[in-house]
Amino acid sequence: MIFINNINIIDKLYESHFASKLELVQLISTINDEEAEYLRKKAQDTALSVFQNKIYLRGLIEFSSYCKNDCYYCGLQKSNSSVVRYRLSKDEILQCCENGYKLGFKTFVLQGGEDLYFNDEYMGAIVREIREKYPDCAITLSLGERSCKSYEYLFKCGANRYLLRHETADFEHYSKLHPPSMSLKNRIQCLYDLKKIGYQVGAGFMVGSPFQTVENLAEDLIFLHKLKPHMCGIGPFIHHSSTRFANKPDGDVRQCLILLAIIRLMHPNILLPATTALATLDENGREQGILFGANVIMPNLSPLNHRKDYSLYENKAYSGCEAAENLKYLSEKVRAVGYKIVSDRGDYIK
Ligand code: 5AD
Repeated sequence: MIFINNINIIDKLYESHFASKLELVQLISTINDEEAEYLRKKAQDTALSVFQNKIYLRGLIEFSSYCKNDCYYCGLQKSNSSVVRYRLSKDEILQCCENGYKLGFKTFVLQGGEDLYFNDEYMGAIVREIREKYPDCAITLSLGERSCKSYEYLFKCGANRYLLRHETADFEHYSKLHPPSMSLKNRIQCLYDLKKIGYQVGAGFMVGSPFQTVENLAEDLIFLHKLKPHMCGIGPFIHHSSTRFANKPDGDVRQCLILLAIIRLMHPNILLPATTALATLDENGREQGILFGANVIMPNLSPLNHRKDYSLYENKAYSGCEAAENLKYLSEKVRAVGYKIVSDRGDYIK
């Protein structure tokens, strides 16, 4: 077997946007700081050549903290009785959009737990009204697993994008993170359905989730290579004290940055957020994410009084730079590392 060093693997990723599972495992598990800097520069170059130094904004509206699922890692799991549950009304959601639009947002991300209260009729009415009021904006939904019919209907009502992290591409690992009622097969089917319908689709996973191996991470990367999503959300796992994973260690920020960079090299055009979880674990996480190839930030547009209740994990950041109303402060931080926030819709470009 010919020995391939990490720099060769990075060059291969840069040039051909692919590496084998073995190469990815080697890279992720043995990359040293010097090689990580080489990887970072290649990822940054790639992002700059596709997007220049533009950073796209998505306004996150967390409209329901109810969830029918019991994902073991998530603070909003239905068995967690200590969570304050809330739902925004249609008018409250529209008010969030109005606030966001005034601030320059051209994408609204409606995210919630899997809450049956928001059935197709109600969700469709919300999407239609946002579409009518803001024809120049993108509407992104993040509502979990629904039927293909439901996805089709919401697309017809005017939604353009859908975020559904696959969480892990390994069946055994998936079953350690989710109850038996949930299946990776169905989740993957949802992602393919969404793509077929015409949504711009975002997959993604947590870095350092309990029981995750380096092989699992390589499988996530291979899965993304097959699915070819338009967006990818990755962030470190962060424990939540009222879940069975309360004592599991948080994900590693450095590893998350390395994965962002690899994803950028494998998918030069992908829309890649520097996530709130990254910014929660490291005060420079957002800027670091950008320097490793991320090109999207998702500030929080939810009503102030509810933000603390959308507690996916411990100490989730929702103020300071995470808050949509502090856009000026965020812009300055982004500018300090050589980038500029733009108010475009930031659609996927082939
Ligand atoms: N730590 C980090 N990310 C989490 N998510 C849910 N729980 C956690 C946690 N404890 C992520 C999942 C989900 C997204 C909305 O938030 O990947 O898809």
